[in-house]
Amino acid sequence: MEKENLRSRNWFGRTGKDGFIYRAWMKNNGIPDHEFRKPVIGICNTWSELTPCNVHFRDLAEYVKRGIREAGGFPVEFPVMSLGETLMKPTTMLFRNLASMDVEESIRGNPLDGVVLLCGCDKTTPSLVMGACSVNLPAIVVSGGPMLTGRYKGASIGTSDVWRLAAGLEEGTVNEEQLHEMEAALCHSQGHCAVMGTASTMACMAESLGLTLPGNAAIPAVDARRKVLAQQSGSRIVEMVREDLKPSDILTRAAFENAIITNAAIGGSTNFILHLLAIAGRIGVPLQLSDFDTLSKNIPLIVNLQPSGQFFMEDLYDAGGLPAVLKELDAHLHREALTANGKTISQNYQHAQCYNASIITNTGQPFNAGTGLAVLTGNICEQGAVIKPSAATPHLMQHTGAAVVFESIDDYKQRIHDDDLEVDENSILVLKNVGPKGYPGMPEVGNMTLPKKLLKKGITDMVRISDGRMSGTGFGTVVLHVAPEAATGGNFSVLKTGDIITLDVHNRSLYVHLGDTELAARKELWQPIPAHSTRGYVHLYTTHVQQASLGADLDFLRGGSGPHVTKDSH
Ligand code: FES
Repeated sequence: MEKENLRSRNWFGRTGKDGFIYRAWMKNNGIPDHEFRKPVIGICNTWSELTPCNVHFRDLAEYVKRGIREAGGFPVEFPVMSLGETLMKPTTMLFRNLASMDVEESIRGNPLDGVVLLCGCDKTTPSLVMGACSVNLPAIVVSGGPMLTGRYKGASIGTSDVWRLAAGLEEGTVNEEQLHEMEAALCHSQGHCAVMGTASTMACMAESLGLTLPGNAAIPAVDARRKVLAQQSGSRIVEMVREDLKPSDILTRAAFENAIITNAAIGGSTNFILHLLAIAGRIGVPLQLSDFDTLSKNIPLIVNLQPSGQFFMEDLYDAGGLPAVLKELDAHLHREALTANGKTISQNYQHAQCYNASIITNTGQPFNAGTGLAVLTGNICEQGAVIKPSAATPHLMQHTGAAVVFESIDDYKQRIHDDDLEVDENSILVLKNVGPKGYPGMPEVGNMTLPKKLLKKGITDMVRISDGRMSGTGFGTVVLHVAPEAATGGNFSVLKTGDIITLDVHNRSLYVHLGDTELAARKELWQPIPAHSTRGYVHLYTTHVQQASLGADLDFLRGGSGPHVTKDSH
């Protein structure tokens, strides 16, 4: 019965010239006729040797195919733009929206009935989910899984150590030789970063939204159980097609609230906010920056993982994985939220167990009573800014200091280690023009390395404010995502060195001690930065990108166009 209703029949079920063309070229790969009558499942693959975190995805896709075949589907794997966090310049965030367009149009333009999204490294998850939401065909996420914990000279190391090592290099406590030795020790297996950085945060986001099978987030990339989950997900997507279970059925407001609550409890990356806002914009669920603060406020950090804590994703998996975390959050979650396996989120976690209470603590005696993320407002961030209290230094969460302002990343690099720079541990470092339009692409530079002379004094943290982002593996008292960003000419753009700024995380405020008249007078004199490019994607991006408080999607990409092709002939 399904054969007549399948979307793919509009290609493969046709007679005449069109049907001939649709089938004939596929047959060059040895496809027999009966395959064309099955549900056609796309495997949207972000494999690339330039995305090391996803380098095992061709192998993983084979397990997905097994599952699709087992359930009676016809698998077709296709590549989409892959975003490798460690290599791509100027920043992968510049290309997240471009990759999402590739995903959207690749799904819509092809004879697919459902899609498996293979994602791992930071931006590959949101770009695939955003694109799939704008088409709204049945979709399931399979994450690539985290690397095994890095080991160096008997100790565990992870991506968060990169920031400590960088500071050590500046202080002179680490040398290049030691750094070189650690390279191979840090990344000694396939998979994405092993801490609760952005990639792990995104995997947890997908699971808590209900877009994956239960347990997907934490299984290490090289664990055989990851392959089993990939196969099961392949089988499940065929059933989802038969049930017509679409992203819009799963991604309700309740699902987004579950994801926000979960993210607070796991100490997820600040990048979560940008990506979840963008996904909500695509699927049409109203979500605001303030929701993240309101929903996170009473949720303690219960997971003890780096960078906020001590352990790694592998440990989280052994301790019970995300289902055990969700079970601990039962009183806070919307239990009835539907998930990809057709069950509610609470049905999925009801049999979960915590096997290590020092990794998954409980809400009564949490690892850290502070909330995961906080949203600030004030006269230098009228549309909001973000801080991760669990990664900040407690005594700096209420702090007043004089600004040391850098107008750009180049200005910062030139002057930060200058012995003549007037700065002390009470100063507040301000970095402008690293926002979506300003950089462009909003790079992860917000956790600026401290001045060498202060590092040598043993100072490990200072208040830092920027319109940029921070790596999910980073830490410190770092205010990010200031909106409106400096490049748009708001109050943040006219801050000067010596201005007195107060950060008060408890009261969720960030302000400069200047009156409206002074701010208005400075804005009169403000000059925009020159255009980064007058052609190509960068021009498109800087013309249309929205502010961080809206998720930094392109304005014309919000919403979706559904699965229908615009012209229906070859
Ligand atoms: Fe890919 Fe960290 S660099 S997940």
